Amino acid sequence: MGYLPGIVQLLILQCWCLLIITAMPLDFKGNICSNSNDCNDNTTYIWHQIHNKITELASGARHLFEKYTEVQGLSDKVDQICDPVIVHFPKFNATNSSEKEKAIELFSIFSYVSTALSNITNLQNKISSKKTPLLNELEKTFSGVKGILSNLSCFLCKKYHVTHVSVHYGPPLPSGKLPQKAHGCKVLKKYKHFIHQAVNATIINQLYESGTQNPSVP
Ligand SMILES: *[C@@H]1O[C@H](CO)[C@@H](O)[C@H](O)[C@H]1NC(C)=O
Ligand SMILES: *[C@@H]1O[C@H](CO)[C@@H](O)[C@H](O)[C@H]1NC(C)=O
Ligand SMILES: *[C@@H]1O[C@H](CO)[C@@H](O)[C@H](O)[C@H]1NC(C)=O
Ligand SMILES: *[C@@H]1O[C@H](CO)[C@@H](O)[C@H](O)[C@H]1NC(C)=O
Ligand SMILES: *[C@@H]1O[C@H](CO)[C@@H](O)[C@H](O)[C@H]1NC(C)=O
Ligand SMILES: *[C@@H]1O[C@H](CO)[C@@H](O)[C@H](O)[C@H]1NC(C)=O
Repeated sequence: MGYLPGIVQLLILQCWCLLIITAMPLDFKGNICSNSNDCNDNTTYIWHQIHNKITELASGARHLFEKYTEVQGLSDKVDQICDPVIVHFPKFNATNSSEKEKAIELFSIFSYVSTALSNITNLQNKISSKKTPLLNELEKTFSGVKGILSNLSCFLCKKYHVTHVSVHYGPPLPSGKLPQKAHGCKVLKKYKHFIHQAVNATIINQLYESGTQNPSVP
C-alpha cells in the first residue's frame, strides 16, 4: 500500500495542472483587486480604454469567426452546425442596467470568453502545429480580452470596490474533436454578437465627458 500516497499525489498534481491550464487566462488569485496598485486612478479614463479595446475586438470578430469556419471546413454548414442556441454563454443585460452591473457582467463574460478562447486554441494546436492565420487571430483576440479583463478589474476595484465576480463556465466541453469544433464555432458566433452589443453598451458613459470630441459615435 506504500505506493498509494504517490498515486494520490500524482492525481492531485494532474488535477492541479488541469486547473492551472484552465485558469491560466488571467490570475486574479480570487481577488480582483490583487493588481490594483498598477491601476490608473482615473476611472473615466479606464472606461474609455475598455470601450476602445472592445471596439477594436469588435472590428476583428467577424474575421475571426470566418477564419474559424473556413479552417474547420464548416463555411457552408454554418447555419446547421454553429447554431448557437444551445451553447452556454453568459447573459449580457446590454440595455438597461447600471454601469456597475454592466461592468460586473462584462468581467464575467470576458472571463468566460478567455477560457473558451484558450480551449479553442488548445484544440487548434492539437490539430495543427503550424502557426496558422487562425491561431494568429485567436492570439490577437485573446490578448485583447486579457487587457480588457485587466482594465475591468481596475475599474471595478477602484470605482466600486468590487473584489470578486463569479463566473459560470458552463458544462464541460463535449468529447471528440468534431463536437469540440462545433462547440468552438457556436461560442465564437455568440461572442461575435456579444462584442458588438458591448461596444454600444460601453459607449453611454462617454456622453458625459467633455463635448470637444465625440469618439466612435458615427
Ligand atoms: C480622466 O480622464 C478623462 C478621459 O480621458 C479626462 O477627460 C479627465 O480630464 C481625466 N480626469 C483627471 C482628473 O485627470
Ligand atoms: C489597461 O490594461 C492594459 C494591459 O494590462 C494596460 O497596459 C493599460 O495601462 C490599462 N489601462 C488603464 C487605463 O488602466
Ligand atoms: C436588466 O437590468 C434591468 C435593470 O437592472 C432589470 O430590470 C432587468 O430585469 C435585467 N434583465 C435581465 C435579462 O437580467
Ligand atoms: C430602465 O429604463 C427605464 C426607462 O427607460 C428607466 O426609468 C429606469 O431607471 C432604467 N433602469 C435602470 C436600472 O437603468
Ligand atoms: C474549457 O475546457 C475545460 C476542460 O475541458 C472545461 O471544463 C471548460 O468548461 C471549458 N470552458 C469553456 C468556456 O469552453
Ligand atoms: C449598436 O448601435 C448602432 C447605432 O445605434 C445600431 O445600429 C446597432 O444595431 C447596435 N448594435 C447592437 C449589436 O446592438
